Amino acid sequence: MSETMQQLQETVDFIHGLVSKEASIGIILGSGLGNLSNDIVSEKEISYNDIPHFPVSTVEGHKGRLIFGELGGKKVWVMAGRFHYYEGYTPQQVAYPVRVMRLLGVKTLLLSNAAGGVNKDFKIGDLMVINDHISLFTRNPLLGKNEDKLGTRFPDMSEPYSKALISKVQKIAKDNHIELKQGVYTGVTGPTFETRAEYKLIHILGGDAVGMSTVQETIAAIHSGMQVFAMSVITDIGIREEENTITHEEVLQAAKDAEPKLTLLFTELVRSL
Ligand code: HPA
Repeated sequence: MSETMQQLQETVDFIHGLVSKEASIGIILGSGLGNLSNDIVSEKEISYNDIPHFPVSTVEGHKGRLIFGELGGKKVWVMAGRFHYYEGYTPQQVAYPVRVMRLLGVKTLLLSNAAGGVNKDFKIGDLMVINDHISLFTRNPLLGKNEDKLGTRFPDMSEPYSKALISKVQKIAKDNHIELKQGVYTGVTGPTFETRAEYKLIHILGGDAVGMSTVQETIAAIHSGMQVFAMSVITDIGIREEENTITHEEVLQAAKDAEPKLTLLFTELVRSL
């Protein structure tokens, strides 16, 4: 067995020692979007610090807990707080919890993030369904020897974000009078926000939003055969002509303001699965 598979097995055995029930849905909550965890009827919460081989989250706005509980009438695994490449973790470490979820039985992964808008039609507070991504300068988490037990060497990426899940969410949004944008998420390393020229470049390349997470998790999820749904909260607009400074505090505040809508969509999506 490879070292990675051995570590994954130890992590999964540890978690199984605390939680014997199964869940087929996993959720990873982004910056400023951790409150969804309050809506979960929690059965077990495990601090990342206590989980063998788990990295420890450092960024403000993250709670750093793996939660098992019920949302929308379904059992779910929830990561309140994720690991980012900019924190110094390897892409494999960023993807590690996704692989853990897969081995715990998760088949559908829901991701949220805070992102900068590079589509001129977007405004702060918009919700954007991610229909595709561009991995720009972020390292692929599958680099290195392939873990054949998890998935194939050359995974197809023609539909990383499940069209069926996107349709479900569009219907839920319509029924609840929530406006949704849709577009391409561009993954960057951070931790700097982009320069004006970089926002412009991302726009020209076909990105609608830009952020520092999600892409590596999605790649690991697709590799191991999961279906993925992901949504961005647009927390700042990078493409404006006027004065355009961005702070992490503004990003967190905008995410917080949009959070109730996102929570409703995720809860109802889970209910519909
Ligand atoms: N750029 C990159 N990451 C982000 C941004 C941004 O403008 N906003 C929130 N996360």
